[in-house]
Amino acid sequence: MTVRTLAVVSAGLSQPSSTRLLADQLAAATRDELTRHGEQVELRPVELREHAHDIVNHLLTGFPAEPLRRVLDEVTGADGLIAVSPIFNASYNGLFKAFFDLVDADALGGRAVLIGATGGTARHSLALEHALRPMFTYLRAVVAPTAVFAAPEDWSGGTVDGALRARIERAGRELAELVRRSAPSSGPADPFALTTSFDQLLPGRDG
Ligand SMILES: Cc1cc2nc3c(=O)[nH]c(=O)nc-3n(C[C@H](O)[C@H](O)[C@H](O)COP(=O)(O)O)c2cc1C
Repeated sequence: MTVRTLAVVSAGLSQPSSTRLLADQLAAATRDELTRHGEQVELRPVELREHAHDIVNHLLTGFPAEPLRRVLDEVTGADGLIAVSPIFNASYNGLFKAFFDLVDADALGGRAVLIGATGGTARHSLALEHALRPMFTYLRAVVAPTAVFAAPEDWSGGTVDGALRARIERAGRELAELVRRSAPSSGPADPFALTTSFDQLLPGRDG
């Protein structure tokens, strides 16, 4: 049986992080739905705060440190992606954007993605639609219709209340369906792969 892989990226800065909590809930809902359909699932959680220094160094030097390279491969090579950011100044935070700035523009093409965000006020929930969704659309990912925003009033003592639970479950069903309909990932794209044959590289060889 093929194992379907889900990368779960969260960009929260706090510890504990409500963004990580939401990402874990979305991952569990998606995994449960895939399992219900007989799929095996491997979750790949990625907390970006653990790679913050490497992310900035990669932006400055153009080269990833080994742990960050592994994370980029895990994310771009997964069958599905759950991407959750805290809202800062009415948009994704800088850490979230900086990480996805490092993802090759073609690496997420056709990939199933579920987006989520946490914030201090539900008034900023549309940042999912004006910031996160356009970014993944630009990267040609297939973004699930339901995006999940969690405001402080949605958590009761660290647990998820009824309305948020329903949104998480609907979003998980949508991502699971997108993953099930897609061919298993063949892993991360090889940046050194030859896209041109040697014959094409040697024009005029015969003449
Ligand atoms: C610099 C900064 C800017 C923020 N701006 C917003 C904002 O514009 N809208 C909002 O709803 N919450 C805003 N917040 C609140 C965070 O989005 C919220 O606390 C988030 O859930 C924190 O996630 P974490 O627990 O994973 O770190 C801001 C927080 C910080 C530190």
